[in-house]
Amino acid sequence: MILGQYRTLASFKCVAPTLAFHLRQMPKIVGDVAQSFSSKCASGSDGKGKKSKKGGGADKGKKSKKGEKVKKSACGGGSDGKGKKKDGKDNLSAVLHAIEDLRLEQTPIPEALPGQVLLAMDTVGICGTDVHYLTKGRVGSFVLKKPIIMGHEASGIVAKLGKGVKNLKEGDRVAIEPGECCRICELCKKGRYNLCPHMKFCANPPYNGNLRRYYNHMADFCYKLPDHVTMEEGALLEPLSIGVASCRRAKVRLGSHVLIIGAGPIGLVTHIVAKAWGAASTTILDLNEQRLQVAMDLGVTHALKVCKDMDVQEAAQKLIKEIGARPDRTIDCVGNEQAVRLGIYCTRSGGICTVTGMGAADIKFPLMEALTREVDLKGVFRYCNDYQSALELVATKNTGVKKLVTHHFDIEDTIEAFDTSRHRKGNAIKVLIHVQKRDKNNKKPFDK
Ligand SMILES: NC(=O)c1ccc[n+]([C@@H]2O[C@H](COP(=O)([O-])OP(=O)(O)OC[C@H]3O[C@@H](n4cnc5c(N)ncnc54)[C@H](O)[C@@H]3O)[C@@H](O)[C@H]2O)c1
Ligand SMILES: [Zn+2]
Ligand SMILES: [Zn+2]
Repeated sequence: MILGQYRTLASFKCVAPTLAFHLRQMPKIVGDVAQSFSSKCASGSDGKGKKSKKGGGADKGKKSKKGEKVKKSACGGGSDGKGKKKDGKDNLSAVLHAIEDLRLEQTPIPEALPGQVLLAMDTVGICGTDVHYLTKGRVGSFVLKKPIIMGHEASGIVAKLGKGVKNLKEGDRVAIEPGECCRICELCKKGRYNLCPHMKFCANPPYNGNLRRYYNHMADFCYKLPDHVTMEEGALLEPLSIGVASCRRAKVRLGSHVLIIGAGPIGLVTHIVAKAWGAASTTILDLNEQRLQVAMDLGVTHALKVCKDMDVQEAAQKLIKEIGARPDRTIDCVGNEQAVRLGIYCTRSGGICTVTGMGAADIKFPLMEALTREVDLKGVFRYCNDYQSALELVATKNTGVKKLVTHHFDIEDTIEAFDTSRHRKGNAIKVLIHVQKRDKNNKKPFDK
């Protein structure tokens, strides 16, 4: 069912050509859009027929060849690339060697050092950052200079305790907060450990990630999952924590009117958190109708389509008119110049405009507009003490976060999983990779 409005901000010069483009390229989706133009709430359509089938990813299409291109692991182990090592220990890992060179190969099973746990990995999500390293070899100042193991949105089972670990036991199901800060620098001590200059973050060069069968991690950055929370939701706590951090930085609270720019996984989880925290309204913008449909399924108040070549100031005025008032909290989940500019122009005087999106390094934005209307501009970098809140959210509320998951793959099909994610095949939003058999560690199946 379509909840809320779903409309193109109509005065943009680009509307007609864009629509024409969609008519040629995506007739099914245009059907929905046309319907929602004619009826404000478009209650007759549920749009379900247009979604990709959940769980279909691993079963559909050609399977990637296991261990293709594999010769020798650059992350420390010899490998035959086909699963089992000769000594019988299997630590199949997804190793990014260079741009467009992702391989499945064996790496050594690590030891659980003091304070760490060895984890038998269960579920790992693919994130835009992973895709960026695959296609560009860098994100901002982080550059891939030597091979790394991919994966940072993950959950696993405690397989072994390192010395001194008291908070977990073998067999515990955990979500993994993927950074390890130094704990002794000024920022760590001040409780802003996400800004620690010595942070070792999974799959952020030069550090290895956890898309592999076995991985060790500091026990106090592992969060035990209650029985009713699935391993998949455990992996989704990573993007959800970005949503929590974004709403925390934007001071979203009861009665806030929140504008979210971008309906990708990060924009969608930001809406989930804002709604759970009592936002009076959430308005979400995107270029892509399918993503706006998902946003509507998740209960946004307004879902509005924007265009690539829109006039930002004109669009801001349209948006304010459309939703009846300026949002007092804006969270950019795109990161390009157009989106950040739009965010500043839309935000209410005295409000907060938070930029979570990470796009171009240098952008032009209307500083005087922000200064003279006292719109506070804030950045968000990952999360800090937000994982537990994200866990409480999925454990206690029906957040709908599962709706982000469009595809599932086995670890052996990692190459295909990345291909699906980067090309948004089957309208992919969140693609999950299963290191163990699906639902093996869930009390009830993920899809139920
Ligand atoms: N700050 C952090 O710690 C942090 C963490 C994770 C991700 N990110 C960043 O957050 C952003 C979003 O991540 P994601 O995984 O959702 O990415 P995504 O690419 O899947 O989604 C971005 C969405 O924005 C839409 N979009 C593009 N241009 C737009 C525009 N001008 N107006 C409105 N919508 C537009 C796209 O259609 C897409 O649906 C990325 O820039 C990512 O790098 C930041
Ligand atoms: Zn991520
Ligand atoms: Zn530190």
